[in-house]
Amino acid sequence: MNMIKNDLILRTLLGEPTERTPVWMMRQAGRYLPDYRILRDKYDFFTRVQTPALATEITLQPVDQIGVDAAILFSDILVVLQAMGMEVQLIENKGPILPEPVRSIADLKRVFVPDTEESLGYVFEAIRLIKQELNNRVPLIGFAGAPWTLLCYMVEGKGSKTFAQVKSFCFSQPELAHTLLQMLTNTTIAYLKNQVKAGADIIQLFDSWGGLLSPDDFEIFSLQYMRQIIQELKHEVPTILFAKGAWGSIPEMVATGTTGLGLDWCIRPEIARKMAGPRVTLQGNFDPARLLSPIPELKKEVTKMLNGFGPGRHIANLGHGILPNVPVDHAKAFVDTVKNHSYQNQEKQIFSSL
Ligand code: CP3
Repeated sequence: MNMIKNDLILRTLLGEPTERTPVWMMRQAGRYLPDYRILRDKYDFFTRVQTPALATEITLQPVDQIGVDAAILFSDILVVLQAMGMEVQLIENKGPILPEPVRSIADLKRVFVPDTEESLGYVFEAIRLIKQELNNRVPLIGFAGAPWTLLCYMVEGKGSKTFAQVKSFCFSQPELAHTLLQMLTNTTIAYLKNQVKAGADIIQLFDSWGGLLSPDDFEIFSLQYMRQIIQELKHEVPTILFAKGAWGSIPEMVATGTTGLGLDWCIRPEIARKMAGPRVTLQGNFDPARLLSPIPELKKEVTKMLNGFGPGRHIANLGHGILPNVPVDHAKAFVDTVKNHSYQNQEKQIFSSL
């Protein structure tokens, strides 16, 4: 199966030595790219997501224009909630709105575990088309939101800084919360298995709001469900688990058996490696706002990050999604700095220092 020409990310995930550190950017297909903005002016968000030819064109833009080492499917984590029966709107400059959030046992009647083949068929069709267009240049990353992060939107009905409502929901109606989390987990497992069947080479789970929970609550309301998903997927493809802000639980996340672990910028690479041990590939962790620095300074910061992780078992990435106001040449400078880096005076394998 491994006919992919640039397989640096796949080899890095498996812990194999590579010529250089691979690089991609979370949310790399998006508003900072002028060609994306052209399509955004023509078609609304879910038209772009649900039309395989458009999703393919957008997925390929950063591969062609920025030179990243992987493509990530253009879609959104919230399509799973649509498939489960919820209405999701994306309002310009406001983010997602779910007009009828789930908050009581009575609301449970409105959501269900769908046949993903049927309701999310357009995603699998897009994956097949992307694979064809990529023509084995780089691997394709498929993804889903973690059950906890999806529950945040399901209950809150919109974005939030604190997600106080979903937390009070979980702590006052835990049984209902767990019923929903298990439904989200079952849907996500079927959805991701179908992504792999359609051709996704790697799967990333986004737990954007995992860091809002204490370590104990993270285990109860998030990690136990992500563990089920990783267990079901890890024999099929390499997995990357990204739980923003949850680095206090790095050892527990590694214990899920995930191949890769995504990190935000609030932890030093050296400390993350000590907490994670040698047998997982780390991904991250450049502050997305740092891409706004003047290019010479940006390069210095990227170099510092690379030396912090050292060579081997590291995929360079941002610590969260790229911001819409990042100039394209700055995004390109990030990628090029990684590609041109050489690890002087460092051991070939970082693990020898552990
Ligand atoms: O390039 C890629 O990474 C692939 C595409 C992708 C999108 N969303 C496209 C998108 C991915 C991987 C996502 C994941 C996603 N979506 C997450 C998890 C990652 C993260 O950033 O924390 C979350 C929480 C969402 C939910 C969501 N979708 C929000 C909160 C918003 C509005 C805020 C924003 O970032 O604009 C979206 C919309 C969205 N999803 C856009 C894109 C390109 C912007 C829509 C547009 O204006 O074009």
